[in-house]
Amino acid sequence: MYTVSDLRQLHLEVSTRCNAECPMCARNLFGATAPGLTETSMTLNQFRTCMPEDVLAKLEVVDICGAYGDPAIAPELLDICRHIQATSPATRIRIYSNGGLRTPKWWAQLAKIPDITTIFAIDGLTTNEVYRRKVDTDKALRNATAFIDAGGRAQWDYIAFAHNEHEIDAARAHATDLGFAEFQVKKTARFLRPLYEPAPELRPGDGIGTVPIYDRTGEVVGELRPPADERLVNEVVLWARSIEARAEYFDEFFDTCAVRCLALDSSAIFLAATGHVYPCCWLYVQATLPELYGKHAATDRQVHDLLTDTGGPDTLDAAEHPLDDILTSNFFTAVENSWSADSVAGGKLKVCSRVCGEGFSAYRRQFDRPDLVP
Ligand SMILES: C[S@@+](CC[C@H](N)C(=O)[O-])C[C@H]1O[C@@H](n2cnc3c(N)ncnc32)[C@H](O)[C@@H]1O
Ligand code: SF4
Ligand code: SF4
Repeated sequence: MYTVSDLRQLHLEVSTRCNAECPMCARNLFGATAPGLTETSMTLNQFRTCMPEDVLAKLEVVDICGAYGDPAIAPELLDICRHIQATSPATRIRIYSNGGLRTPKWWAQLAKIPDITTIFAIDGLTTNEVYRRKVDTDKALRNATAFIDAGGRAQWDYIAFAHNEHEIDAARAHATDLGFAEFQVKKTARFLRPLYEPAPELRPGDGIGTVPIYDRTGEVVGELRPPADERLVNEVVLWARSIEARAEYFDEFFDTCAVRCLALDSSAIFLAATGHVYPCCWLYVQATLPELYGKHAATDRQVHDLLTDTGGPDTLDAAEHPLDDILTSNFFTAVENSWSADSVAGGKLKVCSRVCGEGFSAYRRQFDRPDLVP
């Protein structure tokens, strides 16, 4: 796909642990942590092993986000950020967090690292805890304020739902008062899930309009719905609503679309908290979800099976293999080759069509300002 000297961006998962219990997050299943999730945080030593200094020195951006956890929970996050900054002063660091962990003092320390931005995911003022179920919103706002007051650059991302759309204007005004540099509304595409993979948590009739909220015991305690204001709904969700035979339509699209790889375009790789390297977070999730769900729920196994057939996850472990070998591994080569297969049944990766298929890209259309897309 690409070589190590091409790399310009790193998407880093520093932890698979989290405090928040968001219902649509891949780490959760029926309200509880997915049974097969390996809960772990990366240490500075692990990071240094996986990401050699000469590679780090060439990176323009390090996005510290992840698929299964919140960066702020990682015990050595400050040390990792300081190491990145010291090794490569020109690299911009962006951290994605629900903001509810740690103290204002800790966030002020983080802000002292030059050229650092935090994207706080706060989906409401009085309503944030409908989605960010275990986050103390006042605490998240105090932490964000401490970060901003200490000189950090902060962005507020707000996922719009039916239950919080009425608070967007007030939140935007509050963001300005607190000194956030940006406020952006995120139009989630996750309501589309049943159109591309098994969605075990949905009940008959939920379709693409409702997602149940479960508590830790598996009881349904609420529902998520897209906003009523269609200007706040993801364009691809609106489009899907307008098509009657939508499952067939989407299948046809996944078979036939041209894939333009976002990872390749931005010369980016994804490093998981376990030390495994993937082209992007979407392949990481698809490769690992069958283990997370185990026997408890069905999921799409296409990427998982491709990885098994091409040598298994150990071949992607950056603690064991040089990055050069991983980027030229059988798995990376097979991913690239898959894009020219004539159908999903013939080996084209459905996740690549869904995320990077030209003319679809629900992911890119989550934001009004594409330049702010992480
Ligand atoms: C797994 S989270 C990791 C970072 C951090 N824990 C957070 O939530 O910001 C990865 C990204 O998914 C986003 N996210 C969570 N739920 C989402 C949803 N329903 N739709 C779109 N993005 C979502 C998060 O806000 C974050 O930007
Ligand atoms: S805060 Fe982030 S990692 Fe944690 S449950 Fe929510 S989306 Fe997932
Ligand atoms: S989903 Fe596939 S095509 Fe898109 S960035 Fe990842 S590897 Fe590339």
